[in-house]
Amino acid sequence: MRTIAVNTPSASYSVLIGDGLLATLADRLHKLLGGKLPRLFVVTSPEIWALWSERFLASFARRGAEPIVLFLPSGEAKKRMSSVETLAGQLAAVGADRDSLILAFGGGVVGDLAGFLAAIYMRGIRYVQVPTTFLAQVDSSLGGKTGVNLVHGKNLIGSFHHPLAVYADTAVLQTLPPEQLRAGLQESIKAGVIYDARLFAYMEEHAAAALASDPETLAHIVAASVRVKADVVSKDERESGLRMILNYGHTVGHAIEAATSYKQLLHGEAVAWGMIAALRIARQRNKIQPSQAERIEKLILQYGPLPAINAPATKLAALTAGDKKNRSGVRRFILPVRIGKTEIVTDVSPEELLSAIEQMLQLARRKAAR
Ligand SMILES: NC(=O)c1ccc[n+]([C@@H]2O[C@H](COP(=O)([O-])OP(=O)(O)OC[C@H]3O[C@@H](n4cnc5c(N)ncnc54)[C@H](O)[C@@H]3O)[C@@H](O)[C@H]2O)c1
Ligand SMILES: [Zn+2]
Repeated sequence: MRTIAVNTPSASYSVLIGDGLLATLADRLHKLLGGKLPRLFVVTSPEIWALWSERFLASFARRGAEPIVLFLPSGEAKKRMSSVETLAGQLAAVGADRDSLILAFGGGVVGDLAGFLAAIYMRGIRYVQVPTTFLAQVDSSLGGKTGVNLVHGKNLIGSFHHPLAVYADTAVLQTLPPEQLRAGLQESIKAGVIYDARLFAYMEEHAAAALASDPETLAHIVAASVRVKADVVSKDERESGLRMILNYGHTVGHAIEAATSYKQLLHGEAVAWGMIAALRIARQRNKIQPSQAERIEKLILQYGPLPAINAPATKLAALTAGDKKNRSGVRRFILPVRIGKTEIVTDVSPEELLSAIEQMLQLARRKAAR
């Protein structure tokens, strides 16, 4: 079992990571909540529940507790206000009150939506995250960002609402589709590049085991990645400075996702290409040694195969202007300067960006799998 602390001005909580953690979930909650269990509401998707409900419920049954299960159909398309209203109605119908606790049991979609539901139901109730995708375990379950999408863009409605705790059982990753695992691992490569050279080296050494879902290897990578995010978020909860480094690869990554209507690449796959584009900008500026840049690019491709990008460079460049991370129209880029360290720059010229995107597309044409 690994425990990592998140300490922000508005909340302090633990992220627990372990193989088989679900078996003791109710006991841990019981202790966390001072020796009693409130009314419990699980938000999950039917697919996840079909796979894992027995393991999930076992520890509650031993304590005589019966959580009420609310379903959110899976898929990004369901991360909408209408789903929040439906679930809030279901909570109200069964009399959920201010003392009730929501358990978000699923990937980032379930976690973001259930967290937002908890943030606004009766002006805010408590919740815990029980993430089931690699991405959710290393990224979306901690940090307090919750929300839903609008047709105009992703995550445009939301709130900061931290969970009481995060329980990441790496055993549930065994049923994750392989491309979901690989896409999530790209966020761990990101964590290594921006903050943790040891994590990066570990992922180099243990690539085969990680890609084969070896439990101990995954637990190590999840814990190290969570440590990076927990550390960064603890130092800068509201993204006024340091937290921006978590967006390495995301400016071009988001542009790729938008240009392909969020249908051709998983988020982590788009971020992987985005990390390569930002790396090319850093190379053009001689901000990073070629040998370091090559190691980064090699590792990203090794955790592939990555899908092709069906979008022209000009469109991708134009779409980076609409990135939510921009402030007052300034385009920010997180550039790696060596493995474990980045620099935030605001003066990337349109020509520089276009050239980096073209290099990325060229590489994608040579290396892409599908
Ligand atoms: N709040 C944040 O800080 C933050 C950070 C990053 C991403 N996000 C959000 O996370 C979302 C993406 O999350 P995601 O990548 O986890 O996708 P997801 O939640 O859509 O899950 C991916 C798929 O895997 C299935 N699944 C989940 N766990 C499984 C398991 N153990 N076994 C088998 N199948 C399983 C799901 O049903 C789904 O079909 C996006 O909406 C994104 O905006 C939020
Ligand atoms: Zn991401």
